[in-house]
Amino acid sequence: MRAWTHRRYGPPDVLRLEELPVPTPGPTDILVRVHATTVNRTDCGFRSAEYVVSRLFSGLLKPKRPVLGCEFAGEVVAVGTQVKRFKVGDKVFGYDDQRFGAYAEYMVTAADGGVALLPKGWSYTDAAALTEGIHYAWCDLKAARIGTGSRVLVYGATGAIGSGAVQLAVSLGAEVTAVCTTPHVDRIKALGAHKVIDRNNTDFRKEPGPFELVFDAVGKSRFKHCKHLLTRDGCYISTELGPRGENVFLGLIGGWRKGPRVRFPLPTISQADVEQFRSMAEAGTLRPLIDRVVGFDELVEATRYVETGQKIGNVVVQVC
Ligand SMILES: NC(=O)c1ccc[n+]([C@@H]2O[C@H](COP(=O)([O-])OP(=O)(O)OC[C@H]3O[C@@H](n4cnc5c(N)ncnc54)[C@H](OP(=O)(O)O)[C@@H]3O)[C@@H](O)[C@H]2O)c1
Repeated sequence: MRAWTHRRYGPPDVLRLEELPVPTPGPTDILVRVHATTVNRTDCGFRSAEYVVSRLFSGLLKPKRPVLGCEFAGEVVAVGTQVKRFKVGDKVFGYDDQRFGAYAEYMVTAADGGVALLPKGWSYTDAAALTEGIHYAWCDLKAARIGTGSRVLVYGATGAIGSGAVQLAVSLGAEVTAVCTTPHVDRIKALGAHKVIDRNNTDFRKEPGPFELVFDAVGKSRFKHCKHLLTRDGCYISTELGPRGENVFLGLIGGWRKGPRVRFPLPTISQADVEQFRSMAEAGTLRPLIDRVVGFDELVEATRYVETGQKIGNVVVQVC
């Protein structure tokens, strides 16, 4: 099978197209013929090892898993002897940041992991982008206990995480204010945001608020500049560590301090989460924002584009 590999950490150029054997599923795994994957910030982060801490999971000196690709949509072509949940021919989508593998024509993933049947009527292309940014947003909204009537500000609403956060917060019953640049205002309104701030003309830090959650989905702000926007029990969550890791530190001490606090939840994904995304997708309340769809041969170029930090939502790769 054809697979994009990285045999060392580094820039997008370390990716190479190789011919590899089709992986064999273990007793609790499924083998998926990958139809679509995405180039996303998780794959890029593990490939570049920009944050050295990622090497604790992916290999200290060189990558343990040369084939990246955490998001996937495709068809089940073989199942392990103990698998009851899926059968050959099922169309599935999901997320696997333990074994990755979707930058290839075939991948193996755990049948009881973050995988579910494709939402009815959905294409592989759309379903491939339903988990990466969306599950980060989901974890953060759950950590902030967002529900009916909560006021939420999403900064960086055009990213994969931000656009997911807007839709998820709306479906949880929150009143959502989203921040993006002029060309994308209508697109973000269409995701259901109650108010959209054009950051080319307006400083979101001058909003009256207060908000139960200020969610910086692109990690460009700082707590100290947003604190005044929060209710007394409100919280600030950023997708980045912040200068000198301040968001982690402030998250750790937050519980002991009165007033608005920082949270830094560790992201997780379960089968139940992916099933939830599937139900919402079928109900029409969740649809990934897609910037572009590229061919398998264009994966390196797509990676360079994603690393400009300017993608709008998700970049999908058609594998076959
Ligand atoms: N290390 C990891 O494993 C990992 C994994 C996932 C995510 N993350 C982090 O999570 C963040 C979000 O990722 P993502 O994939 O959702 O989106 P992304 O690709 O980082 O964000 C793209 C969007 O950010 C907006 N943007 C760029 N600069 C901005 C600024 N200064 N202020 C506000 N918005 C700005 C752009 O829209 P406009 O400029 O048009 O508003 C663009 O649409 C990133 O910082 C990423 O590094 C890290």
